[in-house]
Amino acid sequence: KKILLLNGPNLNLLGTREPGIYGTTTLADIESAAVSQAKAGDAELQYFQTNHEGQLVDRIHQARLDGVEAIVINPAAFTHYSVALRDAITGVNIPFVEIHISNVHAREEFRHKSFLSDKAEAVICGLGTFGYKAAIEFCMTEIKTRAK
Ligand code: DQA
Repeated sequence: KKILLLNGPNLNLLGTREPGIYGTTTLADIESAAVSQAKAGDAELQYFQTNHEGQLVDRIHQARLDGVEAIVINPAAFTHYSVALRDAITGVNIPFVEIHISNVHAREEFRHKSFLSDKAEAVICGLGTFGYKAAIEFCMTEIKTRAK
């Protein structure tokens, strides 16, 4: 199984960014744990982080060409306003899990709205960085390849 882990803007700052909200685990820690977890489950995991909306759209398009079967995505701030991201991920028709480290519903009103959630297989929030682990496990065991 091919899984793609995507992280949106400012998540490169994990570890030092608002540690009271996001914890002290770095993105590099998350990505290397994800690769090991996938390997142990006989899956292949690629990862990508960007601060640029268009690059995320392009990477999602590439995922279809690469035969990616499931996407785990923390769209970060793009969650709350990006129609382009919603259109990209629905356009490639690859099942995805949306994950947020923090409980977005316990935060500012503008974080309660997601442009992706109604298209997601599942949405995880508030589990801290453990949410990535849960999402990857779910993708490896539960997501069946969609009929093309
Ligand atoms: C986030 C929550 C978003 O509202 C915020 O813009 C982020 C991170 C999270 O992981 O909790 O950058 O997606």
